[in-house]
Amino acid sequence: MEASLSLRRSSFSSPFHAPRRSLPHLDAPKFLPFSKSRSSKRCHLSVQMSVKSEPSADLMAPVDPSVSPRVSSLRPSKTMAITDQATALRQAGVPVIGLAAGEPDFDTPAVIAEAGINAIKQGYTRYTPNAGTLELRKAICHKLEEENGLSYSPDQILVSNGAKQCIMQAVLAVCSPGDEVLIPAPYWVSYPEMARLADATPVILPTNISDNFLLNPEFLASKINEKSRLLILCSPSNPTGSVYPKKLLEEIADIVRKHPRLLVLSDEIYEHIIYAPAKHTSFASLPGMWERTLTVNGFSKAFAMTGWRLGYLACPKHFVSACGKIQSQSTSGASSISQKAGLAALGLGYAGGEAVSVMVKAFQERRDFLVKSFRELEGVKISEPQGAFYLFIDFSSYYGSEVEGFGTIKDSESLCRFLLDKAQVALVPGDAFGDDKCIRISYAASLSTLQDAMKKIKEAMVLLRPPVAV
Ligand SMILES: Cc1ncc(COP(=O)(O)O)c(C=O)c1O
Repeated sequence: MEASLSLRRSSFSSPFHAPRRSLPHLDAPKFLPFSKSRSSKRCHLSVQMSVKSEPSADLMAPVDPSVSPRVSSLRPSKTMAITDQATALRQAGVPVIGLAAGEPDFDTPAVIAEAGINAIKQGYTRYTPNAGTLELRKAICHKLEEENGLSYSPDQILVSNGAKQCIMQAVLAVCSPGDEVLIPAPYWVSYPEMARLADATPVILPTNISDNFLLNPEFLASKINEKSRLLILCSPSNPTGSVYPKKLLEEIADIVRKHPRLLVLSDEIYEHIIYAPAKHTSFASLPGMWERTLTVNGFSKAFAMTGWRLGYLACPKHFVSACGKIQSQSTSGASSISQKAGLAALGLGYAGGEAVSVMVKAFQERRDFLVKSFRELEGVKISEPQGAFYLFIDFSSYYGSEVEGFGTIKDSESLCRFLLDKAQVALVPGDAFGDDKCIRISYAASLSTLQDAMKKIKEAMVLLRPPVAV
């Protein structure tokens, strides 16, 4: 018994002639090539559904497994292998300490969570405007004015499903194929891949640990050409925790302003997680930079709201509109519930008020503990982070060590594998961030967890040969 349905591309009045009765078992549809024998100029595509147990081979067109070159040019995440290994160990009952996560270990402050719950209870569960609710965009404008010295109107704000979406849309909106995106390294893993997705070319600008991983303005100047379209700055930085001092940003601005095509994406998502005396400066607040800066911020990190998926972009209207167009044809507006929660977060007061400062204090205590502990290890280089919740440590003096039963520690990935194997601590290889000399340690974990991890790391490092002089 065979049921067939034919799909006429030229006539959509009745595209499917599916049998009314239900079929007992349908094999995968078989797509037939367009029939030459059909005299009509209309193009016919026959789809046959068979209840036979074995489809006949001549009716099966092979599936084309290729994917877009846009996707195949993306580099697979180097952190995946380590993450998979950590998961496998955990499933086998090994108590792995995870210090790889890029999210706060705190709960979302209660006031914010309650605002989300109330939104649901009050039926605030429908689509919002694509750009975000007016009340939230007004609150964001107020925050940017008060805390960052930036003046925007609500139509210069786009609320998205996380800062990540803001960055992806901004890169897609401003970069044309062949444009260059300047990315200081170490960088957040997604920047170069986002540039590739936009058919632009990531141009990596290495920095040194001795300069606290901050971009050298002269080096930047030497890398700018007529294809340079976007410079991505991230301060406080993931993965290094470095914070750009205002003076250095001014020097960078002096270079940027000489190049009319060059825009700056300023990723300020870790803005509130900053340790005195470091101070955050918004790049757009520098003279002449408002017009050419796309400022990205969000709620994930400071407000411990990673799962709420809420971020925003602030920039001149023509760029916001371009990004909004992409958003309107992909995800539409962010969650209505999260937007109510975001409003409550901004209502906590300057820089998130007490709720955020409690978390920042805890992060600082953990940073101090880790910096002190790692400094006790011979041969490591550390740039003390001024913000965010990561430590990016140079372990390269240990590369080349042979470990019995493990092999050679040849790079950041093998060192992370070794530490996972011997210390049962999961970390992220620096290679993922464009610096293979280092590994990233997230201190979004309790002090006691960090103390435990540190003890195990130190015990494991003893197995490596004494480091070369650094
Ligand atoms: C530097 C940086 N920018 C942006 C994001 C994205 O954050 P969101 O959760 O808001 O998408 C992250 C998240 O890890 C990040 O580290």
